[in-house]
Amino acid sequence: MNDATTDAGNGRTLPDRTGDGTRAVRAGLPEPVKHEPTLPGPVFAAHFHLPGDPTGPYTYGRDENPTWTLLEHAIAELEAPGQDGVEALVFASGMAAISSVLFSQLRAGDAVVLPDDGYQALPLVRAQLETYGIEVRTAPTGGDAQLEVLDGAKLLWIETPSNPGLDVCDVRRLADAAHAQGALVAVDNTLATPLGQRPLELGANFAVASGTKQLTGHGDVLLGYVTGRNAEAMAAVRRWRKIVGAIPGPMEAWLAHRSIATLQLRVDRQNTTALALAQALRERPEVTGLRYPGLPDDPSHKIASQQMRRYGCVVSFTLPTRAHADRFLDALRLVDDATSFGGVRSTAERRGRWGGDAVPEGFIRFSVGAEDPEDLVADVLRALTASAS
Ligand SMILES: Cc1ncc(COP(=O)(O)O)c(C=O)c1O
Repeated sequence: MNDATTDAGNGRTLPDRTGDGTRAVRAGLPEPVKHEPTLPGPVFAAHFHLPGDPTGPYTYGRDENPTWTLLEHAIAELEAPGQDGVEALVFASGMAAISSVLFSQLRAGDAVVLPDDGYQALPLVRAQLETYGIEVRTAPTGGDAQLEVLDGAKLLWIETPSNPGLDVCDVRRLADAAHAQGALVAVDNTLATPLGQRPLELGANFAVASGTKQLTGHGDVLLGYVTGRNAEAMAAVRRWRKIVGAIPGPMEAWLAHRSIATLQLRVDRQNTTALALAQALRERPEVTGLRYPGLPDDPSHKIASQQMRRYGCVVSFTLPTRAHADRFLDALRLVDDATSFGGVRSTAERRGRWGGDAVPEGFIRFSVGAEDPEDLVADVLRALTASAS
């Protein structure tokens, strides 16, 4: 760690012990220029003036954009404060970011370990990898079963906490084991956000996330990112972005950067309320399978408390039947029945409706927003009572 960390992209320095809130509001801001805005507006450009030799930084809009650059500096600063040489690349979505790592790092004949209980699009990725002759092994997130299938693997993919089951695995332990065998490690950090967990500090080679969720937090932007410190590996990820063209629009990138300024406020509010909601749900007899890594008696809590600084805004639980769960969702007044998570407005859904997760029919994934905690908890308790019969 350095004594001081560069305030992204401009050479200004933040003191080493800068708090998360300060870091979030300043992340990625350029050097102040008289009469210019603090955060420059989105640069809408398909191409840039380019006389002579075609050298960077800005040539063509699929390769680079100044609005991405500022956002990438902000994300690198949050994922790896004070660490030199960490690069971030932004993408059109979380899936674009995930695919960029997997498809840029793996070749025919390689083996990769994926979670069998992760985000529900991973099986689609698995099928695609297999058509390219890549061996895909799977293991559940909790319980260290990854160790049994690591032998000879090129890449270990971890999603912790997992979506939607909220299991947690020991990133440092798994990363050490994977590295001992020469495997790379990527962590999907979507649910935790960089304020909840820093996979690169725990030994991962890549921290990857959907910025669509709590990072941007308003349910109006799709975004993804990859961070890493291995220059060669990141060059391959960048090249993949260029080939596939999975790039964010400048407006989305700018909205994301603007939203990051309130990341710590949102995360702290939402995560505190998530714990309060989990505690209230624990008292309800119709609720089973309650999971929240921040609950001291949650099966994930021990490892989570070692590697996470905040436990996320998602709570999951099961109601007795599908019909009961549907009645509950219908009865909520402050919570939208919608997919995704991490937004300032609470959402919840019966996850089984998609058919992709191995969950009971009455399983609810609940994303806690920024409402007043007492209002939200009261709404949930009232909806539980109303949906009982
Ligand atoms: C853990 C996790 N990773 C990745 C993704 C994909 O992100 P996006 O929808 O931005 O492509 C999601 C989406 O829900 C997710 O929950």
